[in-house]
This record gives sequence, C-alpha cells and structure tokens, in this order.
Amino acid sequence: MTEPAKVSMEKLVSLCQRRGFIFPSSEIYGGLSSCWDYGPLGVELKQNIKQAWWRAVVQERDDMVGLDASILMHPQVWIASGHLNQFTDPLVECKSCHLRWRADELKDNSCPSCGGELTEPHLFNLMFKTFMGPIEEEANVVYLRPETAQGMFVNFQNIVNTTRKRLPFGIAQIGKAFRNEITTGNFIFRSREFEQMEIEFFVKPGTDEEWFNYWLEERLNWYVNLGIKKENLQLRQHTKGELAHYALKCYDIDYLFPMGWAELEGVANRGDFDLVQHASSSGKSLAYLDEETKQHIVPYIIEPSAGVDRSVLAFLCDAYDEEPDKEEIRVLLRLHPTLAPIKVAILPLSRKEPLVQLANQVYADLRPCWMVQYDDTQSIGRRYRRQDEIGTPFCVTVDFQSLEDNQATIRERDTMNQIRVPISELKNTLQAKLEGEDLFVLPPGGQIWKEG
Ligand code: GAP
Repeated sequence: MTEPAKVSMEKLVSLCQRRGFIFPSSEIYGGLSSCWDYGPLGVELKQNIKQAWWRAVVQERDDMVGLDASILMHPQVWIASGHLNQFTDPLVECKSCHLRWRADELKDNSCPSCGGELTEPHLFNLMFKTFMGPIEEEANVVYLRPETAQGMFVNFQNIVNTTRKRLPFGIAQIGKAFRNEITTGNFIFRSREFEQMEIEFFVKPGTDEEWFNYWLEERLNWYVNLGIKKENLQLRQHTKGELAHYALKCYDIDYLFPMGWAELEGVANRGDFDLVQHASSSGKSLAYLDEETKQHIVPYIIEPSAGVDRSVLAFLCDAYDEEPDKEEIRVLLRLHPTLAPIKVAILPLSRKEPLVQLANQVYADLRPCWMVQYDDTQSIGRRYRRQDEIGTPFCVTVDFQSLEDNQATIRERDTMNQIRVPISELKNTLQAKLEGEDLFVLPPGGQIWKEG
C-alpha cells in the first residue's frame, strides 16, 4: 500500500499563498474561479520545471527540436483535428439548484450539491471561442487552443524542410492551453487556463509501439530523477471507451495527489490521425519521403503530454515534509536543487557593520551564479525555518568570526548539517553541493561545523 500524500491540499494551498508561490487570480475582486497567478517563488519553480523539461527533451537530444506556435490558429485546424465536433464532455444540470456537473464524474444520478434531479446529459464543447478583429460575427470566430499539439502538426512540413531532420524525430513545445471545463478544482490541478509541455514524436509506422514504450519510460524517469518518489507514480492504461478521438492507445502517468491518484501526464499513440486529417483538410501533402525506400509515408505520432501546473503541484506535494524539531514542527520542501526557486540564502547574523558589508559582498559574489536571496530580518532560527519552508537547499551564514577568519557556514536544508568553509571557496563548494556532492566532502580549509 502506498502511503497517502503527507500534505493535505488545504495545507499546501495555505503555504503557497503565505509564501508567495500561487495566488487566486484577481484576488482583490474576489478571485476568478479556476484561474491562478504564480507569485515570485511560484514563477521561479515553474520556470525551473519548464527549463528542466526543455533541457531534457530538446537541448540534450539530437532528435528533437523546439517550437513556439501561436495560441490562436486558423479555425479550420479545429475542424480537421476533430476538436470542434468531438472535444466534449457530457454535461448535466440540476433541475432544482441549476448547478452543472460532468455526468461521467458523478457517483449517482442526483445533484452532488442539493440531491436534486438531473437533466439528461448533453455534450458540451470545451473550446473557448472569441472573435478575430473588430467585427463580432460568425465569420471571425477563432478559438483559444485546447492543446498545444496542433501547432506542431501543422508545422510538420516546415520543420522537415528547414531542419532536414529524418525520422524518427520530434517537436517540443511549452505553452498555454484553455479549456472551458465543466467542473474545475483541486487547486491548480484542473483549471480553465493552464500550461502544457508537449512532445510530438514522429516515427515510421510499425516502430510506434517501440517508441511508445521508450517515451513512457523516459517520462517516468524524468519525474523520478527530479525527486518524485517512485511509489507515488503509477501507469494506467486508458480503456477503449476512455480513449480520446485521435488516440490508438494511451497511458496516463498518475501521481498520488492529496485527493488520490490522478493524471499528471498522458502518453498517447496518435497514429497518423492528425497528419492525415490536416493533409486532407488543407490540401497540402504532409507525407514524408523515406530516403531508404523512396516511398512517401505518413508518420505515426507518439505524444507525451505533460501539464506544467500539475507538475508544479506534484513536485510541491512530493517535496512537502514535516518533522519534529525541539518543541516545534519543522516544515520543509525537499525540492530537488534544480527546481528550488532560491538556491542559496545569505543570512548575516547581525545587521551591524562591518558584518553587513561582508555579507553583502558574499551576496554580490554569488548572485550572478544562481537565484540567491539576502535575508537579515528576525532571528537566525526563524530565517532558517523560512528558507526550509520555501525549499532553499543551502543557507550561508556570515557571523562575527567571519570577520576574523574569512570563513562562512553552509547549512544544508534536508539534514540541517553545517560545514564552515573559506569565503573564497564558497562558490565552488556550493556549485558542487547543488550538483549533489555530499555536504561533508570538504574544500581546502573547510571543516565540519555542526551535525543535525
Ligand atoms: N495533446 C494531448 C492532450 O492535451 P490531455 O490528456 O487532454 O492530452 C495533457 O492533456 C495534460 O495537460 C494532462 O495530463 C494534464 O497534465 C494537463 N491538463 C489537461 N487539462 C488540464 C486542466 N484543465 N487543468 C490543468 N492541467 C490540465
């Protein structure tokens, strides 16, 4: 049995608001349901997640390229892709209180809010509609994209022509997507505006199964390598009835969120559905010339599609920890250093000169290397707690002895162990520790200062 998540959603939401990770959108007006704003720490965490993904799937690979397509696309795209007809959820309405629900998520046939009788389900399209230009008429209707994927399909030929990539190769894209979900909730898990990190990997038909398995494993490992506990991840295959209209096969990578197991990422085999549809709808060939056989083929597509916001939520849930510390509870985020919003905090023991001058000098030296925070408010104990709670892996303390021996202490978030090193060695030492070196591997002139 897997343990339930250590943190309740209420605790996590409270930490996120208190510390400036995530706020409700337009909060001073009472908030806008299902939309969220990332605060100073949230935006760093989100950027770090996107950067880690981009590095892993684009920059460190020869068979992938990136793209940033526009959110608004030609309306024909959504006819060809099947979204205008089939991107729907079954909606029911309560005949008493008029609240609306997703029929496939209800336990029985009564309103979850008042127990009232429900209408027969009808299909509700999730696409957000708007108008292009100053005239609001049917001819000018455009849609906010419900997935970033289509931008990659319609650019397939552009990419082949300009990059000379040969099969198998993929395109990666990060960007906003919009869905007019019938029900939202569980904080940033299901919202109406969210961000995706998607890969469309084009392969020769017949090799699709092999590539599907390859990407499933790659994507699982990506989460684990960035600190998600293996036992909090599971694979779940979609049943025939669940498959999206374009998918031949799909597995969800589920995470054990506080509300239970739920989809973090989907890996789908989309077959040749999208390229065939766009070729026939646009009249442009999207076939690929196989140089070995001299035959034109339509590639199959393997699609690992991850949610940025759900990744933020999963990394936060997984990192959250509480442990007894003297009479208190120490709350900490054991975030992987690559993802931590702040890598190093500089904490002068006092606000007096000349200590402040030395601490500022350390701050100025380290700032060009990483996201570093200077904090001189309240007691050192409270400052450590604050940094623990926002997931800062290392704190550097400059004390009165530093003025004499030119050394500073480095405190590790997870163990609270401390070492003392020459200030001239701080940059290299911290770099090595951020890359995973054991704290007690000491630089020249360094010493173990405190255990636990
Ligand atoms: N192109 C395929 C596609 O969009 P999906 O399973 O509908 O597939 C992919 O979405 C991922 O996008 C999901 O695994 C999830 O992480 C994220 N996602 C989808 N709908 C979302 C929503 N309403 N709010 C937040 N994230 C969402």
